[in-house]
Amino acid sequence: MLKEIDLLKEKLSGYSLKTAADLEVFKREITGKNGVINHLFEQFKLIPAEEKKQVGGALNQLKQMAMEIFHAAQEQIENTGRKQEFDFTLPPKEILAGSLHPISQVMEEVISIFERIGFVVKDGPEMEDDWHNFSALNFADDHPARDMQDTFFVSKNDKIVLRTHTSSIQIRTLENEQPPLRFIAPGRVYRCDSDATHSPVFHQIECMVIDKNVSFADLKDVLFYFVKAFFGDDLQVRFRPSYFPFTEPSAEMDIGWNVDGKFKWMEILGCGMVDPNVLKNCNIDPKVYSGYAFGVGVERLAMLRYKIHDIRLFYENDVRFLNQF
Ligand code: PHE
Repeated sequence: MLKEIDLLKEKLSGYSLKTAADLEVFKREITGKNGVINHLFEQFKLIPAEEKKQVGGALNQLKQMAMEIFHAAQEQIENTGRKQEFDFTLPPKEILAGSLHPISQVMEEVISIFERIGFVVKDGPEMEDDWHNFSALNFADDHPARDMQDTFFVSKNDKIVLRTHTSSIQIRTLENEQPPLRFIAPGRVYRCDSDATHSPVFHQIECMVIDKNVSFADLKDVLFYFVKAFFGDDLQVRFRPSYFPFTEPSAEMDIGWNVDGKFKWMEILGCGMVDPNVLKNCNIDPKVYSGYAFGVGVERLAMLRYKIHDIRLFYENDVRFLNQF
């Protein structure tokens, strides 16, 4: 048996294992369950006890040698395989860079238009109490104007609502700061309403100026500055009377555009001179101070700018849509 073992050792050094198929053959013939080494171990059980020590040593040595050859070859074959898989000449994969959502782009642009003429940016919570969203803005408890804004209630008893407009930030700022004030307040707002031009979640930018001797002419001046800065000079604008509980007089501004070959007006903002009651509610003397305010719909601006006819496209997150901005 010793002779057989020696012969096999010689044979092993003659093997050249280059491919996975070679490895398989080696395993089948030598190291595997039905390979020659296992076979020798079977025979080993039958040899006389006094030979066992010597033969056993030689047999273990053979097995170790075979396993070393197998593992070394296996590692090399795997490594060369890996090298071949990686083709350094291939062009790199495209890195898909994201971009700001069109709504964010429009918000940033509007903010910068107002910052140029000295407005600062204010913020407020999206969950509001009845006082800041309605009462302080001169909505009477049973005033039908509350129905103008289909409200999402978070809790009906405490009258906590998802703010229906950014006008609540007017109140929060007037309660905490003294005039003269000149600010805009961008943010998300909520109304129970949904169709091609209304979404239950949308964005507004509120604007407010409180100072001495502020007039309706100042309001119109800033509004026309804004729409020209945003849309350019070639623009059809309509300014018409309206009603809001917190402004008197009130107005709305529409921009003309073409939808499916038809000319239409799209309302973009509500505005007016701040009602004296609102100033009183915030402990500001309406005999000394006056002001104007407006609230502009950000989605509406984006729809007009990019000629998008359905507001819902902004929220579907379809990359084919978003890629265009
Ligand atoms: N808050 C009003 C709305 O959401 C818009 C508005 C703001 C009107 C400020 C007048 C003054 O419809």
